[in-house]
Amino acid sequence: MSTPRTDRLTLTRPDDWHLHLRDGAMLRDVLPDTARQMARAIVMPNLVPPVVTTADAAAYRERILAALPEGARFEPLMTLYLTEATAPDEILRAKDSGFVHGVKLYPANATTNSHAGVADLRRVHAVLEAMQRVDLPLLVHGEVTDPDVDVFDREAVFIERHLDRLVRDFPALRVVLEHVTTREGAQFVLDAPATVAGTLTAHHLLLNRNAIFAGGLRPHHYCLPVLKRELHRQALVKAAISGGGKFFLGTDSAPHPKHAKESSCGCAGIYTAHAAIELYAEAFDAAGALDRLEGFASHNGPDFYRLPRNTDRIELVREATPVPPVMSKGGQELVPLRAGETVAWRLAG
Ligand code: DOR
Ligand code: ZN
Repeated sequence: MSTPRTDRLTLTRPDDWHLHLRDGAMLRDVLPDTARQMARAIVMPNLVPPVVTTADAAAYRERILAALPEGARFEPLMTLYLTEATAPDEILRAKDSGFVHGVKLYPANATTNSHAGVADLRRVHAVLEAMQRVDLPLLVHGEVTDPDVDVFDREAVFIERHLDRLVRDFPALRVVLEHVTTREGAQFVLDAPATVAGTLTAHHLLLNRNAIFAGGLRPHHYCLPVLKRELHRQALVKAAISGGGKFFLGTDSAPHPKHAKESSCGCAGIYTAHAAIELYAEAFDAAGALDRLEGFASHNGPDFYRLPRNTDRIELVREATPVPPVMSKGGQELVPLRAGETVAWRLAG
């Protein structure tokens, strides 16, 4: 029996549980794309300089609120950038603030603006203990940085060498393995205790690594963790539609100007905020699981972060919608995902 095709879809308004908003003119121009569809977002702290203290996060939060378009309702959920100098006291201040919802672990030099990250996890044990005690989640960029490890294996090796142990050492610490990109990552989250969850990007659900090399080098499909082979993409789709509540939406939308990506040493990051929920709808539709989209996009995240679910709704209409070949963001050109092509859904209203 075939199921009827869904052409209109209403969902509880989603949230984005992993987002790069940047600062200044770029912030002003990318924020409306997210605020148009998402009620809240976990905002990444990898600014230059990074958001390391609660005071930094308070100031950044004010800049985000000030950059919101007139009448927009959007709540930035702030994070701190963990360094080897972070003091356990800072964690108490963060928790008390009420607006810091997680602490981000970047292994030093794993990705964009991560040089101030953690080179040796043993040096942050006291901080992780404090986080466990006050119940502040750890958000993990799960890749080793060892140049001897193949770039496509860095997530699996991070889990094996570090994450498995960390979850056992801190059994009450809530941990999000962010932007899971491999079968091993998805399986780790599924097998882990309920304290562990994972986010999935739209681009990792829709693309495999062939997209980086389709007819030539495609810098706009380069992100970190890098796209993986098809079997991994399929495992991620299976995890996304699994319905167990452990996976939720985190776009990792990461704006870089066109010139910084089309370069002899191009930056990592894919911009998806302009059509985030539409792209996820495509991925879930392709898997015949549109009925699972709402749990993934709108329920599982707030449940894990212990925040209320949103109460208003959005509507998606199945309609091929063009994406401009280039957008203007922060006074610069930016090439979004699907540039010059279409997405299969349109956000109504
Ligand atoms: O592709 C990525 N871009 N991955 C990250 O981890 C960071 C991000 C960025 O900030 O541009
Ligand atoms: Zn990110």
